[in-house]
Amino acid sequence: MQKFVITGGNRLGGEIELQGCKNSALPIMAAAVLVQGKCILESCPNLTDVYSAARIINSLGCKCSVAGKIAEIDASAVSGSAIPEKLMGEMRSSIMFVGAILGRTGQCTFSIPGGCELGPRPIDMHLAAFSKLGAEISENGGEITCRLPKGRGHGSKISLSFPSVGATENIILCSVLAEGETVVNNAAREPEICDMCRFLRACGAKIKGDGESRIVIEGVEKLHGCEYCIMPDRIAGATYLAMTAAAGGAMILKNACIAEMEPFISVLEQTGCYICTADNRIYLRRGGRLKAIRDRIRTMPHPGFPTDAQAVLMAALAAADGTSVFEENIFDCRYRHTDALIKMGADIQVMGKAAVIRGVKGLHGADVEATDLRGGAAMAVAALGAEGTTSIGCINHIDRGYEKFEDNITSLGGRISRV
Ligand code: EPU
Repeated sequence: MQKFVITGGNRLGGEIELQGCKNSALPIMAAAVLVQGKCILESCPNLTDVYSAARIINSLGCKCSVAGKIAEIDASAVSGSAIPEKLMGEMRSSIMFVGAILGRTGQCTFSIPGGCELGPRPIDMHLAAFSKLGAEISENGGEITCRLPKGRGHGSKISLSFPSVGATENIILCSVLAEGETVVNNAAREPEICDMCRFLRACGAKIKGDGESRIVIEGVEKLHGCEYCIMPDRIAGATYLAMTAAAGGAMILKNACIAEMEPFISVLEQTGCYICTADNRIYLRRGGRLKAIRDRIRTMPHPGFPTDAQAVLMAALAAADGTSVFEENIFDCRYRHTDALIKMGADIQVMGKAAVIRGVKGLHGADVEATDLRGGAAMAVAALGAEGTTSIGCINHIDRGYEKFEDNITSLGGRISRV
């Protein structure tokens, strides 16, 4: 198992180009299964989750290849409708393929998806929505089958009890080829959903209202291929900014999605970092010590503070002046990185949904293990600001979401090696 060895304590400086977004690349790859033609995706990040998605597509008898930043998907012919259990287990986003396969073939067999352990991650909203779109659902020994008796779904009105990102995406995927109009109320508004909808519209889908809490999808008979450029990854961007905030110094993030990163940037600014944005670039400079954030940082669905950026910001605040408090409202178990930060000298107390971070003078290196994707990235943030050397194990979690992680850190002047 590979590790990252990071020696902290020096200021960062330089510029890096932000990668394509994992959380829109994956649903867009699933959406390409709906298309009777060839899709070319630019700015596709090279990540283990993207390769898992490519394997799912190929297992359906379609063609998917990823070379450089380009993914080519040809789903002109689809010969299968089952997702192999092993591939379902590799990542949570495998669930997105269910809506797409069901929409395209009228049937899908699958098992419960894997992914980061952030507490229970049920799929009840996804299944209830498929059922409203006309699917009959059966379960046999852990294998679930959804079947549209007429081969095609029918439009429906669906109100989500919580604006789930995945359920919103799956409803859209399952309804773009359905008969009639589907309305999603209390839909999630994450930018990645808009990215997937832009892609689908480029293929001929009729979707309105994405980015708002009411989305309307009018089913069409067929989708055609297109070329599409995936949006930049706002969470990877937040992670690199948090690194410079933790270590000190100055950086420029190029190819940044400034509007989409605003909920994170506006909080990070309160730490005393100087942040300036222009022309898809974000400049961040940290001179003196970081300041704690006075107001409680509440993770919320977009446009609230993103749960995916909670861990990386916490790592930076661990050595700020004063006390910061987080409230995690999206996942039940998203503080698993705190033990590693404590091992590095942080003073963190977790009480249910809340985590109280009393800033210490400085962190020190330690041997730690990544607990999940963003938690692992948070350990790297802490390590870059810490005195001494940190070894991070289980970096397969980090490789699921960060492209060229060590190259980017090296070009910012950080000392990191993969061993
Ligand atoms: N939920 C249910 N039932 C469902 C679906 C969701 O109870 O049927 C609950 C979840 O258990 C969770 C909450 O609703 O407590 C929110 O889950 P959501 O469905 O919104 O999350 P997701 O689609 O599983 C995506 C991202 C996550 C990100 C969340 C929230 C992808 C591939 N994953 O997950 O990203 O944290 O939205 O923004 O898009 C990551 O990138 O590290 C990551 C975990």
